[in-house]
Amino acid sequence: MKINPKEYIGKTIFITATNTNVGKTYACKKFLNYFSNSNLKVGYFKPIETGVENNTPLDGTRMLELTKKLNPDFEKVSINDCVPYQFTLPASPYVAKGNTYIDIEFLKEKKEYLQNFCDVLIIEGAGGLMVPIKKEYFMINLIKEFKTKCFLITPSKLGSINDTLLSIEALKNKNIDFEFFINLYEDINSFEKVSKPFLIDYFETLNFLQDL
Ligand code: GTP
Ligand code: MG
Repeated sequence: MKINPKEYIGKTIFITATNTNVGKTYACKKFLNYFSNSNLKVGYFKPIETGVENNTPLDGTRMLELTKKLNPDFEKVSINDCVPYQFTLPASPYVAKGNTYIDIEFLKEKKEYLQNFCDVLIIEGAGGLMVPIKKEYFMINLIKEFKTKCFLITPSKLGSINDTLLSIEALKNKNIDFEFFINLYEDINSFEKVSKPFLIDYFETLNFLQDL
């Protein structure tokens, strides 16, 4: 699948994954560069980051820096606008937030505010789709409420078939418009033999982040 950058003008894309550490930030980098090379002004938003040490969210800070390089209009954006909720404990937002109230309306307003500075806003989730934000409110609920297109990043390692299909089931169940991209990274040498035979039979075509 070729992504047509023009279709994404004025839109947001929520980058999720089958789990933590699968390559969401890596994918955000790829998409920011891809859209920027197509002359779109890019933006980055990480609504909640956990595992933040010394008041410096790692994903947010690095990605905001890259975004500012690609799109000078984003110079006006502070790290607290880019990553509104920052928590120290490296855990799900539900656990890491302690007694802090996570205001979803506030996050929606931040998203709209950041859209003022870009053509396409790339939003990075935390962990996977069923990572809890509140007791009955998960990352997938935030995607639904943001009314955003979703890109699911899936791994190439053994287990990816199961993880990919489960995440896709969840997205279909919530009627979320999505595409999925395989991050050819872990078990890259065995992927052809171990996971690809089923994936290609089942999906017929596969999208790889590395082809962007
Ligand atoms: P969280 O935000 O912590 O949930 O993780 P994530 O899903 O954003 O994963 P991230 O992109 O940070 O990737 C995890 C680690 O693997 C990082 O150290 C990345 O640099 C590395 N990584 C992931 N994908 C690739 C890849 O395709 N190539 C290379 N070279 N490194 C990768
Ligand atoms: Mg990340």
